[in-house]
Amino acid sequence: MILGSQWGDEGKGKITDYFTEKSDMIVRFQGGTNAGHTIVVKNEKFKFHLLPSGILHPEKKSIIGNGVVVDPKILIQEIEGLEKKGIQPNLLISERANVIMPYHKIMDSAEEKIRGKKIGTTKRGIGPCYSDKISRGGIRMMDLTDEKILKEKLDNIIPVKQKIFQAFGEETILSTNETLKEYLEYGKKLGKYIADTSLIINQAFDNGKNVLLEGAQGTQLDVDHGTYPYTTSSNTIAGGGCTGSGISPLKIKNIIGVVKAYTTRVGEGPMPTELEDKTGKQIRDKGSEYGTTTGRPRRCGWLDMVVVNYACRINGFTSLAVTKIDVLSGLEKLKICKAYKYNNEIITNFPADIRILEKCVPVYEEFDGWEEKNWKEIVKSGYDALPENMKKYLEYISSSSKVPTGIVSLGPGREETINLKG
Ligand code: GDP
Ligand code: IMO
Ligand code: MG
Repeated sequence: MILGSQWGDEGKGKITDYFTEKSDMIVRFQGGTNAGHTIVVKNEKFKFHLLPSGILHPEKKSIIGNGVVVDPKILIQEIEGLEKKGIQPNLLISERANVIMPYHKIMDSAEEKIRGKKIGTTKRGIGPCYSDKISRGGIRMMDLTDEKILKEKLDNIIPVKQKIFQAFGEETILSTNETLKEYLEYGKKLGKYIADTSLIINQAFDNGKNVLLEGAQGTQLDVDHGTYPYTTSSNTIAGGGCTGSGISPLKIKNIIGVVKAYTTRVGEGPMPTELEDKTGKQIRDKGSEYGTTTGRPRRCGWLDMVVVNYACRINGFTSLAVTKIDVLSGLEKLKICKAYKYNNEIITNFPADIRILEKCVPVYEEFDGWEEKNWKEIVKSGYDALPENMKKYLEYISSSSKVPTGIVSLGPGREETINLKG
C-alpha cells in the first residue's frame, strides 16, 4: 500500500509507478478526480486523476475500487487520451463505485459559495457525491448499464436536487432525460470495464499475486483523522484501503508512507510550517508546486515531523519513501519542525482540534544545506554517494519517525530513485 503522509501531492504517483514493476495488480481505493498524479517516463509527462498510476504498464491489471467516486466523463477522457498514445488500458472498475453526477459538481461550488469559511475544494463534486453515498442516495457504476434502474433513480433524485438548487440560488435546470441519455452513453462506453473487483482482487491474492494499493490525497486530508473540516471526504489512510477495495486487513504486508522532503498544501486550513516568504516561493518555483488538478499555487513550508509522525501512527507505515529532496538543494540552511509550542507547552502529538493547531508555533531543528548536483548521475552510485548533509537530513526523518526509509526520490523520473532495500 502506498499512502500520502501529509496534505497530498507527496509524489505518490511516481512511487506507485516505480513499484508497479514488482506488482501484478494496482488498485485505487478512494478519492476521485480531486487527485492529480503526475508520472514522468522518458521525459514524457502523464497526468491522471482517476486512472491508477500503474496504468502505464498495460501488462498489469489496474483497478478502480469500490471506494472511489467515479466521474465517467473524465474517466473516458483519460482512457481515450491513453489510447491515442497507443496504450490500451488494462482496467477494471468496481460495479459498486459511486458515480459523480452533474448535480454533485454544481453543489460542490454552491456549498463553497455559502460557507462562512471556504474549504478550497477542487470543485470536482467529491464531497456531495460521498454525502449521497453515505445517505444511500447514490448512483453506482452498475446502474449506468441498466436503463430501468437509472431512470427510476434519476426520476427520484433530480426533482429533489432541483429544489435544493433553488434554495442555494442556483439557476441550472437539470433535465432527467438528458442526464439519463448522457449517463447511459457513459455506461455503454465503460461497460466492458465494470466488474466485481473485490472478487478479482481476492482471487489475485489466492493465486499468490502482488497487489499494490495506491492512495490518493494524504493523511491530513482524511475525513476522520485529518484537519477537519479542511479535509477531503474519504478515508485516505491505511484502513480506507481495505474498505475501498474489499479486502481483509490481514492481506496487507507493507505500507509505504510517501513523505515529501518539505510540506505543501492546496486549499484552506492550518499549516503550521507554512513559509510566506522568499524561501517558500523558492521551494514553490523549484518544486513546480502548482496543483495538477486546479493549477492553484501550492502553499509551501518546512518539513513537519509532527505531521509525519502522526501519519506513521495512524497508518502503521512499514517504510518511508522520501521524495523531492532534490528541490531543497542550494538552500544554505534547512529546518525540520520537531514539535509545536502551544501556550508555553511543547506538544509532539498532532492536535485534533484545529483551533489549537492554528495557534501552534513550530519548534525547529536546523540543518546545513547541500549544493545542487547532477542527481541523475549520483543516483547511479546509490545512497552512499549522496552529500553528507542530505544524509543527515534523511537520517533525522527516520530517527524521528522510527520508520526506516526505503526509497529516496531525487527527480520525477523512474530512474531518479534510490531503493535502499535493493
Ligand atoms: P501525487 O498527487 O502524490 O501523486 O503527487 P503529484 O503528482 O501531484 O505531485 C508531485 C510532483 O512532483 C509531480 O509533478 C512529480 O512528477 C514530481 N516529483 C515526484 N517525485 C519527485 C522528486 O523526487 N523530485 C522532483 N523534483 N520531482 C518529483
Ligand atoms: P492527490 O491525490 C492535494 C484538497 C483540496 C481541498 C480539500 C478538499 O493529488 O494528492 P475536495 O475537492 O477533495 O473536496 O477538496 O482537499 N485536495 C488535495 N490536495 N492533493 C490532492 O490529491 C487533493 N485532493 C483534494 O485542495 O483543500
Ligand atoms: Mg497530486
